[in-house]
Order: sequence, then C-alpha cells, then structure tokens
Amino acid sequence: MDIAKTIDSTRQLIKDARKANKTIGLVPTMGALHIGHISLIEAAKKQTDYVVVSIFVNPTQFGAAEDFDKYPQPFEQDTKICREHGVDLVFAPSVNEIYPSQNITWVNVEKLTETLCGRSRPGHFKGVTAVCAKLFNIIQPDIALFGQKDAQQAVVIKRMAADLHMPLKIQVCPTVREDDGLAVSSRNKYLTPEERKDAPLLYESLQKAKQLIQAGTTDAEKIITEMKKILSRSEVLQPEYVEIVNAETLQPKSEIIGPALIALAARLGSARLIDNILIDT
Ligand code: PAJ
Repeated sequence: MDIAKTIDSTRQLIKDARKANKTIGLVPTMGALHIGHISLIEAAKKQTDYVVVSIFVNPTQFGAAEDFDKYPQPFEQDTKICREHGVDLVFAPSVNEIYPSQNITWVNVEKLTETLCGRSRPGHFKGVTAVCAKLFNIIQPDIALFGQKDAQQAVVIKRMAADLHMPLKIQVCPTVREDDGLAVSSRNKYLTPEERKDAPLLYESLQKAKQLIQAGTTDAEKIITEMKKILSRSEVLQPEYVEIVNAETLQPKSEIIGPALIALAARLGSARLIDNILIDT
C-alpha cells in the first residue's frame, strides 16, 4: 500500500494504475476510520481494481464553533486499517496541499444545502463540495463511495457530479450500526456513558416512524410527533430537527406517499449526532 501526501505523487500513482488498465474507486474520509468507513472500502474493493482512501480533515466544512481542532487523527491506526483491508493508496494531504492559497473557488449546490443540516451548519456543504470536487479532480475515480449515514451529503454530492457532468459514479452504501442501532460515527467518542446510553433513541424513533408508515399512517406531522415523544425520554438529548422529506429534493413532505427520507439531528452533550432512514411506500 502506498501513502501519498502530495498531489503530484498521487497523480503519478494514479497514472500508473490507469496504464495497467485498472479501474479506480475512491473512498473520501476524514480519518478516525471505523466499521462504517470499512464497509465503503469493502464495497470499493468489490467493484474496482485500485482503491484509494483519502484521509483529510477538511477545515472548510467546519463552522467556527465546531470540533475541527479536536477531531481525532489516529493516522497510524488508520493506515493500519487500510492496509488490512487491501487499500492500494492512502492519500493524506496537508491543509496547505489542498488549500495552497486563499481558496476563492467553491461549488454552490443550491436548495439541497439549505434544508436539514444546512440550516444549523451554514457553509458546511460548501466546504464538502469544494473538497470533494478537488478530490475527484486529483484522483479521477470511476466510482466514489459515500455512506447513507450522511444522507444530505450524499444527495448534494450526487447532484454536484450530475450538474457538473463529472465523469464518475457516486455510490451510496448502507449505514453501519452498533448492535443497539446507534449509527457508527467518529463523533460517538465524545459521548459520556449516560449520553451513550440514550443515543440509541435516535434509531428507535426512526424505527417507530417506519412502523407507523407500514401500518398505514401517512400524516407526516403525526409521525414526527411520535418520534419526538421517544426522543423526549432522554434528559440529555436535545433534538435539533426531526423531518420527513422527499428523498431527492429534500423538501418537506406532509403526506408520506412514495420515497421519503426521515432524518434527524440531535445534540447529546458536546456531540451532534445525525441519523436517517429511507422509506419507500
Ligand atoms: P467522514 O465523516 O469521515 O465519513 C466518510 C464517509 O464515511 C462518508 O461518506 C460517510 O457517510 C461514511 N460513513 C460514516 N459513518 C458511516 C456509517 N456508520 N455507515 C456507513 N457509512 C458511514 O463525510 C465525511 O467524512 C466528509 O464530509 C468527506 C466526504 C470526507 C468530505 O470531507
């Protein structure tokens, strides 16, 4: 496995892989790799000949009051995980390599970035689209893989790639969960034991929504009320949003007919957790 820190050396390795007629899969990450990231690596291995994992804690997607400075960076452990899972290249650039001068070029995906997490994290998706566009240009993968866990991110990136005619496929892989339903996340480390105990309520409320819809409830407001009741069982959990939206436009749905995304965000102490499920009635 190669580890490249510069764009030039990465481009050379990619050129060699292309010369050998290899197809290329990219798994963009911010490191602190866990079984969620590994599921993306495994999906990439199945479909492409040369798998690249990027590890880059992207400063432009963090708000001023967010956790950029304390975001975990266990680089040795991450490269070990990549090696064990047959990754061909880890691309781990410095901030200066990706943003060598003041960055004044951004990709603005309208509308889709204004709902859900976009409301409380202004500028977040602008940073995500910028770094993903850069990564796609540097690596030029055939497939880039993202997790359903970050549903809005996946929708935004898909739309960016489609609107800008980027020559790659964006693949979205299922959310990997702990045994009690909590979506695996690097930010789960921030939870105290009491917060961790209540964190599965997020998934429980999503499951409740699924049950209600399967039993024939179509009124979104009613479903959201029931979900909030479950979340209110915790004294330490503060919901930020609980929404049912069209899975492609991310606009709120009042009646559940057709594919819907049920998404929520909540604060648990210093952690901000998100989760979602897709429903097709
Ligand atoms: P990061 O949070 O490291 O996540 C990298 C990828 O792993 C994302 O596509 C995310 O959706 C996926 N992922 C995280 N937890 C998962 C889980 N439990 N199950 C399945 N997939 C999961 O998302 C980012 O980094 C950044 O925004 C990035 C796209 C790298 C741009 O900086």
